[in-house]
Amino acid sequence: MRRLVSAADIDRFRAVIAHRLGLGFEDAKSAFLADVMRRRLDVGGQTPEAYLDRLDAEHRDDEMGALSQELTVSETYFFRHNDQYRAFAEIALPDRLGAQAAAKRLRILSAGCASGEEAFSLAMLVRDAGIDPSWDVAILGVDVNPAMVSKATRGLFSEWALRETPADVRRRWFKPAGRDFALDDTLRASVTFEERNLSRDDPRLWQPDTYDIVFFRNVLMYFTPENGQTVITRIGRAMKAGGYLFLGHAETLRGVSDDFHLRHTHDTFYYQRKQGAERATPLLPAITSFAAPAPAVIAAVEADTWIDAIRSACERIETLARSPRPSASARQGSTRVAVMPTWDLDLARELLREERFAEALDRIERLPPESGQDPDVLLLLAALLTQRGRLVEAEDTCRRLLDVDELSAGAHYLLALCREHARDRPGAVNHDQVAIHLDPGFAMPHLHLGLLARRAGDRGAARKELEQALLLLQREDSSRMLLFGGGFSRNTLVALCRTELAGCGGQA
Ligand SMILES: C[S@@+](CC[C@H](N)C(=O)[O-])C[C@H]1O[C@@H](n2cnc3c(N)ncnc32)[C@H](O)[C@@H]1O
Repeated sequence: MRRLVSAADIDRFRAVIAHRLGLGFEDAKSAFLADVMRRRLDVGGQTPEAYLDRLDAEHRDDEMGALSQELTVSETYFFRHNDQYRAFAEIALPDRLGAQAAAKRLRILSAGCASGEEAFSLAMLVRDAGIDPSWDVAILGVDVNPAMVSKATRGLFSEWALRETPADVRRRWFKPAGRDFALDDTLRASVTFEERNLSRDDPRLWQPDTYDIVFFRNVLMYFTPENGQTVITRIGRAMKAGGYLFLGHAETLRGVSDDFHLRHTHDTFYYQRKQGAERATPLLPAITSFAAPAPAVIAAVEADTWIDAIRSACERIETLARSPRPSASARQGSTRVAVMPTWDLDLARELLREERFAEALDRIERLPPESGQDPDVLLLLAALLTQRGRLVEAEDTCRRLLDVDELSAGAHYLLALCREHARDRPGAVNHDQVAIHLDPGFAMPHLHLGLLARRAGDRGAARKELEQALLLLQREDSSRMLLFGGGFSRNTLVALCRTELAGCGGQA
């Protein structure tokens, strides 16, 4: 019999799953949740109400295990995103072996390990490091899905799981077993797997100051923001100062935690736990809203560098803007509810909104010196200095901003502009890449990378970046357009993207 599940039941089911497993499901997934719930009701022969009451009231690990099999995505394979494994083998592991030389103890965690490919890839690299047998080395893989944990423990893998595994590594660590491949027994014994729910406060798993290296990849993206933040806080506490954290390619700690330094090597990103003495600075709220800017012309993009284009666009706009307008202060308060720090940034933002860049900059520069620790002030100041072409000061301001908010995507984007102007193309590319890693939805660094690639004659890279910029520009937040658009409107930047794309054979 097909059980009746109401919209209210689904909402409650979604809330319990978020609470117990930490997984977030959007409204678009309601039909999927309804199917899962019906199947579970059939198994237990319960009414929705009784089932949800029990789920809510008790820690039912058996039911959570069954639900996790229905609700989680367990896609994984050996050496997935190999750049991260190279950074592990060449940076993180040697560094931690050095740091732990006196204790001779190394702890590695694969959190959300699925069927174990990640933990075993790490084990292979640990074996290659030739660690003295007197060391106490442990690799732990944990996952909430019991079926995945028992699969990991069996150590039997399909051809598909080995799709990124080099032939010599295959030969060394696997033996054919029917249509599958059996992992070497000694390697299998070097990893422990446990069924654990990362969303539970589990004192044994989260013992402080334990792990040297944590792989927590492609799990955060399925969590609710609140749960993601809680789990990252737990991981941070359970890590040793100076330990390394690897997230999935599409995952970032921006806005989640500032307990880590961002590291960028081997064409990949990862994080390093700050030392205890490095105080975590709470992030201040981001700028909330600005109205869309007035249209600007595109001719300036013929300029030598993007920053020259921005400067001339701003100068042109200011000339146009000198016609009389009602004063900003006269309209203050009528346009929006502001985030109010202890100093008044509203007028500067209002002036920016009116494209009166010089006055906005003057306003910011007259703020009290203690405002120089406020990330909002520093970002606004850096953007305005960049627009005015005061690039040495802009760069200095960006670096001060990174001192208080190391994961500021905006600071990295502005630094990319400054570096380009200083003829440091690799530096510019690097800062754009960091900005994109920190905020994958940020259009401007893609546009800048596209323009840099086009100037360097790399049509393929230019197309890829410009296509992405075009996509993102259409949904870019208008306050960010104003702050980073360099005096160009969204429409102008979209038109620029299309022209540049057409110039390198892309689809506009
Ligand atoms: C996409 S896989 C990632 C596997 C591997 N880390 C990788 O990147 O290849 C996500 C895994 O996270 C696990 N997971 C999801 N929620 C979890 C939770 N609350 N506690 C533990 N594991 C969880 C899922 O069961 C699944 O096996």
